[in-house]
Amino acid sequence: MFSDADAAALYDLLNPWDPESRPEDAFYFPLVMAARSVLDLGCGTGTMLRLARERGHTGRLAGLDPDRAALDRARRRTDIDWIEATADRAQPGAGFELATMTGHAFQNLLTDRAVHDSLTAVRAALRPGGRFAFETRHPQARAWEGWSRANPDDHSEVTEPSGRTLRYWHDVSGVDGEIVSITGTVALPDGTVLRVLTEDLRFLAPDALDAHLTAAGFEIEARYGDWARGPVDAASREIITVARRPA
Ligand SMILES: C[S@@+](CC[C@H](N)C(=O)[O-])C[C@H]1O[C@@H](n2cnc3c(N)ncnc32)[C@H](O)[C@@H]1O
Repeated sequence: MFSDADAAALYDLLNPWDPESRPEDAFYFPLVMAARSVLDLGCGTGTMLRLARERGHTGRLAGLDPDRAALDRARRRTDIDWIEATADRAQPGAGFELATMTGHAFQNLLTDRAVHDSLTAVRAALRPGGRFAFETRHPQARAWEGWSRANPDDHSEVTEPSGRTLRYWHDVSGVDGEIVSITGTVALPDGTVLRVLTEDLRFLAPDALDAHLTAAGFEIEARYGDWARGPVDAASREIITVARRPA
């Protein structure tokens, strides 16, 4: 009724990559355009790299994601390398100038082992002096408290190219320490549920994140609490990091 391919297409409708209107995209896109080679981990449907190519990026672009249906959409663009894998399988010695992990994909790394192995692999895939830019939601902002069918701001309505209108909302099914389990419900306007997608997200605190970065051999070049490059403070909703592999 609602396939993995449909879910990947819905993701694109809900999350169009647009550096002109979305502050998070405006943060990453100039970094991507300025780097001669970019590895985007958790690239999903590949919208960021596809736009980079469309807008004239001539260097090496590679997107990596374990979700085959998302990558199938990405693969419509054949002048980018698409790799079906998790971040911990990034290729050592690949020599990228920039690695990115956008759309809070970092929060899909649920265990210390997954975080450690992924950061270590990302570092090894960068050239000396290369940078890794990514963000994770700050646990203090408790973003999950807004993810509820009772919150009208959490409801989206989109129209597929076929003309079918879909509604989409989140619910939290559990909070266990740093791990928040959520569902995403896809429904028709009359309420008929087509699919319930499930996901676990980890909310890592800044100190723990920094310990992982240091253990993996990164230096922290910049740290922001919002997309306007403000500092991390008691009101921050994001932990945005630009980490560097020492030269
Ligand atoms: C919310 S999407 C973000 C997609 C895209 N980066 C964006 O900004 O729209 C999170 C992505 O992370 C991917 N993902 C999940 N676990 C991963 C892992 N261990 N390594 C790399 N990517 C992972 C998922 O398949 C999904 O495509």
